[in-house]
Amino acid sequence: MYRVAVITLSDKGYAGEREDKSGPTIEKIVTEHGYEVVYYKVLPDDTEMLKQEMLTLCDEDKADLILTTGGTGFSKRDNTPEATLAVSERQVPGIAEAIRAYSLSITKRAMLSRGVSVIRKNTLIVNLPGSPKAVDEALNYIISELDHGIKILKGTASECART
Ligand code: MTE
Repeated sequence: MYRVAVITLSDKGYAGEREDKSGPTIEKIVTEHGYEVVYYKVLPDDTEMLKQEMLTLCDEDKADLILTTGGTGFSKRDNTPEATLAVSERQVPGIAEAIRAYSLSITKRAMLSRGVSVIRKNTLIVNLPGSPKAVDEALNYIISELDHGIKILKGTASECART
């Protein structure tokens, strides 16, 4: 069972001015797919705080998958992709491309999400957009393929034999 860390980026959520519905949406979807949520935090849209959080989770091997939600748009405080790239060792553009490709079939506004996907050590990090609707759409689309990637990353699978 792979371990998932969920991080919601929201100034209002962090200040207690808005209930986080996107983090719990992630939790529900990953749990239904056999993952274990070991960590959940609401952070403000602060690059340094997010970087530190991700460094600890990756470098102390606390999670196999980090899913962020929020902070991928154009607002001056939207810094999630920058914080993620700052801790990246290897980029995984295909996951972000898949999210955008599928999301564009639902709304053209998906082109406005700047989310990235990267690897640091043995952890895969995926940025999801902020709204619960967008999380639901994007995560349900990619989730079936994530465990194969994580297996290879962790060295427990090397072959891609499949249908
Ligand atoms: N992706 C999906 N699948 N569904 C959506 O409704 N909304 C978009 C986009 N991606 C959306 C989506 C919108 S309106 C914006 S502004 C961007 O995600 C950035 O969102 P964020 O700043 O909340 O991360």
